[in-house]
Amino acid sequence: MSQAGLAGRLTKILGRAGVCREEIEKAARIIRGGGLVAFPTETVYGLGANALDEDAVARIYEAKGRPSDNPIIVHVCGIEMAETAAELNQQARKLMEKFWPGPLSLVLKSLPVVPEKTRGGLETVAVRMPDNETALALIEAAGVPIAAPSANISGRPSPTDAQSVRDDLGESVAMVLDGGPAQVGLESTVLDVTGERPVLLRPGGISKEAIEAELGVEVLLPQSEAEKKRSPGTRYRHYAPNLPLILEKKTAEFWPEIASLGKTWAWLGVKNPPLAPEGKITFADTEEYARGLFRALRVLENSGVEIIIAEVPEGGGIAAALKDRLNRASGASD
Ligand code: TXA
Ligand code: MG
Repeated sequence: MSQAGLAGRLTKILGRAGVCREEIEKAARIIRGGGLVAFPTETVYGLGANALDEDAVARIYEAKGRPSDNPIIVHVCGIEMAETAAELNQQARKLMEKFWPGPLSLVLKSLPVVPEKTRGGLETVAVRMPDNETALALIEAAGVPIAAPSANISGRPSPTDAQSVRDDLGESVAMVLDGGPAQVGLESTVLDVTGERPVLLRPGGISKEAIEAELGVEVLLPQSEAEKKRSPGTRYRHYAPNLPLILEKKTAEFWPEIASLGKTWAWLGVKNPPLAPEGKITFADTEEYARGLFRALRVLENSGVEIIIAEVPEGGGIAAALKDRLNRASGASD
């Protein structure tokens, strides 16, 4: 695209975004120079670097304290840019056309241009086009795909606003673009489409059911330990708050047992708890619960209570993703 065309597109995009054009251009210069920029997406905030520059990507691992075998999602501003990093197949194209921009990361065979560091040593690379104008303007202005994990210290709840990024990463990130609170609040769906059947490596904003409806085939869940290892991130305990998180069980003993602990506790959920808590964050519905979970965990861990008790949502769609994150945060999986 010509400079004039790019400027026009940026102005159009940024007319709708909360971040001004000078900030985007400054951030793009930092990315091109090998530095780190935190930026909003519709899911959670990302910690971005030039995906094709292995020294820049090394800085991401360092800032997050991330295990180096955990690959990083490559963010693109369109299907054409995805084609420069990965080998697209028919399933991938279909899903991109239907769900992009949106919270769906597709694991594909990597092209050699993507450094091993970005791929965590795998032969594959995950690509995603975020549904956020600031993120798209940044990628377009940088002119390179941007590798970005969630912008938290490894193991902490993902940041869904700029302040959470600053709280975790402070000085180690050159710039934080503030796009306000994230719309979805949970990380993207990660789907491996390298095999005959797609495999859901992480549930997220695009549901298993929606993917199956689009492809007309069943989406598999990782069956074996070997398959689980295809998404190295799922091996680590994640999203953990500094306080014990207990998931509500629908048993007769659950609440009497909580009462007998004699601890101060806070409640997180859509409904109200049967006992009076010391602290409480309730949400209008499951979507709002998903959007607010990570922020709520961060707020409650500074509220003085000893434990957090959370309602577990039922059903598919975003409820499945929320349940997955609650399980991880409570240490119930992994
Ligand atoms: O919504 C999101 O996906 C956010 C925003 C910033 O885009 N990013 C995010 O990145 O959640 P991160 O690094 O926190 O989680 C990426 C997950 C990890 O579990 C990682 O192991 C998996 O995706 N992943 C990345 N590349 C992969 C690959 N080539 N094969 C299998 N899993 C991969
Ligand atoms: Mg993460």
